[in-house]
Formats: sequence, structure tokens, C-alpha cells
Amino acid sequence: MTIQIISGSAHPALSKKVAKYLGITLSPTENKRFADGETYVRIKRKVRGDDVFLIQPVCPPVNDNLIELLVTIDALKRANVGKINVVAPYLGYTRQDRKVVSREPISAKLVANLISTAGADRIFCVDLHKDQIQGFFDIPVDHFVGYPFFADYFKRQKIKDLVIIAPDVGAVDKARKMATLLSAPIAFIDKRRSAHNKSEVLKVVGEVKGKMAVILDDIIDTGGTITAAAKAVIEGGAREVKICATHAILSGDAADKLQNSAATEVLFLDTIPIAKDKMRKKMKQLSMAKLLAKAIKRIHQGKSLGKLFTWEDKLTQL
Ligand code: R5P
Repeated sequence: MTIQIISGSAHPALSKKVAKYLGITLSPTENKRFADGETYVRIKRKVRGDDVFLIQPVCPPVNDNLIELLVTIDALKRANVGKINVVAPYLGYTRQDRKVVSREPISAKLVANLISTAGADRIFCVDLHKDQIQGFFDIPVDHFVGYPFFADYFKRQKIKDLVIIAPDVGAVDKARKMATLLSAPIAFIDKRRSAHNKSEVLKVVGEVKGKMAVILDDIIDTGGTITAAAKAVIEGGAREVKICATHAILSGDAADKLQNSAATEVLFLDTIPIAKDKMRKKMKQLSMAKLLAKAIKRIHQGKSLGKLFTWEDKLTQL
């Protein structure tokens, strides 16, 4: 089976980087809108029997990018492709993973069904909102995490008195893993509402006094959670605070909130493109293109991906 890389329109820069690492060019597509707004995609190169990797994060504009992903899978399936591997470094809708009140959808499950029903054979994602969303799919899921990239970044800076902060209880597990890689302690933010209609009280649980605090989250959407956490950490006595989050959704005025926050640096991965007008001085994007290319190569060769999870050894050795 020949390997081919196809880019959706969500993140062509990442697709180009990945293709470059693999030493191949992107397979061309025609991508347009009908007058009524419907999405049209045509694959312009033969794909019969080939091993196709379709790179399309489901990021804003989420609905457009999701539909484009689905119609591209359909186009591939109808062209007798060998295998369709979806590479969705960010998968939108996964925060809706359960019913909180009655008569709500579980959109994460619906999206998983849509992707496999459309014809995908396998999906690659990074930092799904909850790890167990892997089980919403009946096709193989390769799930990568962002914290080892951030851990590497901070390791190279040889920072003293580091503490890794989980901005809420749900984020503690990943913060602990990142802290283990850096031999640092952890702390977390305990969010409480003192009374109905009263604003949240953020309490830092753990020792942050005089330390360099690094807050780790999966997503920055409106920026509310993380900037409040940064403020609480500084008020708790940290000497400096940095932020890292895998997915830069950056809705509304999130970019300005981050720039004006207590944090001195904000790191993201390139799972989602950051528009020029949303880029701010404090922000930096670390690229995962090389790892993605290595993963694609190994999947294509039928090799295990375990070799790429080098950080797992460090976590299990302890
Ligand atoms: C929450 O469970 C997530 O991990 C993020 O903290 C949250 O989605 C971020 O949203 P926002 O930036 O809008 O506060």
C-alpha cells in the first residue's frame, strides 16, 4: 500500500510540516463551497488501495471542519481507498461526553459514531478531553498526550523550585505525570462557589510560595479557567507563573486575557492553528509535527507506536 497524506483546510501548515518530515508531498484536493454553503471536496489524485492519512483537526470553525472531515472520508471511501487514517490532533465536541442534565446530547459519542460510520479505519488524537473517550470509538484510537512536550521544554530551561499546577481536580492526573518527568511537586486549584450567584473562590492546595509555577491544562477556550488559576497562584505566593495547554482554541478575547494575565509565558502545541490576529507576545507554539510524522510512518509500516511513548518508561520506572 502506498502512503498518501491529505490535508483538510483546518490546519494546512501542520499537514505540510508532517509531509515534509515524511519526504512526500501532500495529495491535492479540490475544496469549495456551494452557493448555499454546503461543503464540496474532491480528491484529485488516485487513492485506490492506498494507505491515506487525512489531517484535519476538528477546531474552530468546528462545524465546518467536522463536515469537511466527514465528506472527505466519504470521498475516499467511494474511491476504493485501502485504509483511511484520520489524524485529528484536536477533536472538537469531546467536552460533551455525558449528560449533565436531562434531554442533553452526548455529542462526543455522536461525533465518534459519525467518523467511523463515514468510513474511517483508525483515528489519531491528542489530549482528548477525557482519556476514556477513546472507548466511544469502535475503531483503533491512537491517543497522544501534550505534557511530555512541555516537560521537555521546561527541562531544557533547568528551572529551580518548579511546581506543576492542575487548574482543577480533573487535571491532577496529567499534572502529576508531567511533574514526575520533571521531578517536581504538584499543587492544584480547588474551585468553590461560596453561595449561589457568588463568584468562585479559588484555593491553591499545595506549596507554591517562592516557586516557579507551571499550570497545565488541555484546552484554553475563553481563557477564564487558566487566567483565574494564574492569578490565584501568584496570590498564593509563587514567584512566577507560566501556562501550558495543548489546544489553543482561544475564543472571543481569550488571547488578550492571556496577554494581560499574571502569566509570563503561555505555551501551546500546534494541534490547532493560531490565527495571526490571536497571536500575542507571551504565546509560543511547540510543534508536534515530527512526532506525528514518526507515528504516521510506524502506523503505515504496521509497527507499534509504543517506542514513541518514551516518557512512559520514565513514569513506570518510578
Ligand atoms: C475543563 O475541564 C478544561 O480542562 C479546560 O479547563 C476548560 O475547557 C477551559 O475553558 P476556558 O478556557 O473557557 O475556561
